[in-house]
Amino acid sequence: MKLLITGANGQLGRCLQDVLADTEHEVIALDRSSLDIGDAKAVKQIIDQHQPQAIINAAAYTAVDKAESEPELAARINTTGPENLAKAAERHSALLIHISTDYVFDGSKTTPYTEDDVTNPQGVYGQTKLDGEKAVQQHCSRHVILRTAWVFSEYGNNFVKTMLRLGKERDELGVVADQVGCPTYAGAIAGALASVLRVFSENRARYGVYHYSGDNAVSWYEFARCIFDAAKSRGELLKQPQVNRITTKDYPTPATRPAYSVLSSDKLNTRFGVRADDWHISLEAVLSRLPHQE
Ligand SMILES: NC(=O)c1ccc[n+]([C@@H]2O[C@H](COP(=O)([O-])OP(=O)(O)OC[C@H]3O[C@@H](n4cnc5c(N)ncnc54)[C@H](OP(=O)(O)O)[C@@H]3O)[C@@H](O)[C@H]2O)c1
Repeated sequence: MKLLITGANGQLGRCLQDVLADTEHEVIALDRSSLDIGDAKAVKQIIDQHQPQAIINAAAYTAVDKAESEPELAARINTTGPENLAKAAERHSALLIHISTDYVFDGSKTTPYTEDDVTNPQGVYGQTKLDGEKAVQQHCSRHVILRTAWVFSEYGNNFVKTMLRLGKERDELGVVADQVGCPTYAGAIAGALASVLRVFSENRARYGVYHYSGDNAVSWYEFARCIFDAAKSRGELLKQPQVNRITTKDYPTPATRPAYSVLSSDKLNTRFGVRADDWHISLEAVLSRLPHQE
């Protein structure tokens, strides 16, 4: 297929290029400087020019806390952007794969969220992402919306890299232990999307909303401990910092986050044969690709 990727310099955008490089697909990967998805005219012109069969929207405003003070910018990128892409995709009868987030939920459940669960975002980021989903559903008949969570990779900024940096700088750190989710490797999301594309390229259309995340739920505290354990056992850290459990109340942030945002990947598995990623293995792989930490 001829594919166009937006947000090509982000974590997912970079991993998509790595994964799709070895496939039969023709890939046009555009970063923000080549295509600003908030610019309706630019989106129309680029899609008219390239006429992709599928568009993967990996572009997003992902600064969850900053979004509280920049709601218009967040909406331009997370809502207007997907709307622009959806309208362009519809004109060309193209498939639009749009990425969304666990933060569309309020976190009040205690069992994994399915695609049928009621959304109720707690902050500007989650709200603008949910509005983006709705825009895609409204304007593009051939869409896949993939919600994912707690994304990490060897690229860009993420929790794994932040922990490794803080671990070098400090002897002790507090990490929130009362928010639970599933860490997800961006490379695994890219692999899942490659499977989705395979099914569509065989003319087996399965549009709709799907969830995809890593397999085991943990708190940020437990995730931090896993990161330091893995880095230490690889000989990447001379000493492990002491990691202390703290609560959300101890670490106030501008945006409210869901206490529980575990996603069930079962529907994606059933329809596309994609299983939730073993994130412990992916974490090892990411650490092996990062520069030595000491
Ligand atoms: N990161 C997470 O923990 C997480 C969790 C759940 C869901 N998600 C979703 O997963 C998807 C991928 O996230 P990610 O972690 O790969 O995000 P990311 O690393 O922050 O990458 C997003 C990319 O979008 C680009 N971008 C921003 N505004 C743009 C615009 N107007 N036009 C075109 N590109 C623009 C950014 O460009 P610059 O580099 O120039 O800023 C960046 O390269 C997003 O939809 C996100 O909402 C992420």
